[in-house]
Amino acid sequence: MPDDVYTHGHHDSVLQSHRWRTAANSAGYLLPHLHPGDTLLDVGCGPGTITADLAAAVAPGRVVAIDRSADVLVTRPGGLGTARDADFGASVWYFASPADRDWWSQSWAGRATSSDFAVQARDRGLATDADLGRIADAWREWGAHPDGWLVLVHGEVLATR
Ligand SMILES: C[S@@+](CC[C@H](N)C(=O)[O-])C[C@H]1O[C@@H](n2cnc3c(N)ncnc32)[C@H](O)[C@@H]1O
Repeated sequence: MPDDVYTHGHHDSVLQSHRWRTAANSAGYLLPHLHPGDTLLDVGCGPGTITADLAAAVAPGRVVAIDRSADVLVTRPGGLGTARDADFGASVWYFASPADRDWWSQSWAGRATSSDFAVQARDRGLATDADLGRIADAWREWGAHPDGWLVLVHGEVLATR
């Protein structure tokens, strides 16, 4: 497997998490800056649930979404500039309810054993099937624990020209 791969790949255990995403829960910082008629390029769009929301925000503007797993890449010049310090921010996803723990633990247990992450870990001698099984078990154990919580931190950069 080449080095320049998306580590997790696109197994359903990965895509179920991507498909859950909306512009509001994953790119809320961007929404106030989008206007009808804007042109938008989404690089690494994955299944495109965020893209669809962004497209609604800029309609009737043009939207191009690309992903390395797609056969055809479409790019256009311009649109990117220099980010100022003030343009940096962060947001977090935080999950602690039993339903959220169950959903996230199953998703990450699946990634540990069935996604491209598992394939690469095995192929590169980083983990055996037994190791990956223990990682999956640990996610399930975490999911069943009433004190379990999960936080994912996102860096946000708004670049303007
Ligand atoms: C973490 S996923 C995010 C997908 C989507 N933006 C979302 O948030 O649901 C990253 C995506 O970027 C794609 N990707 C990685 N490197 C890329 C590249 N060089 N050009 C285009 N897409 C790329 C991967 O195939 C993957 O679908």
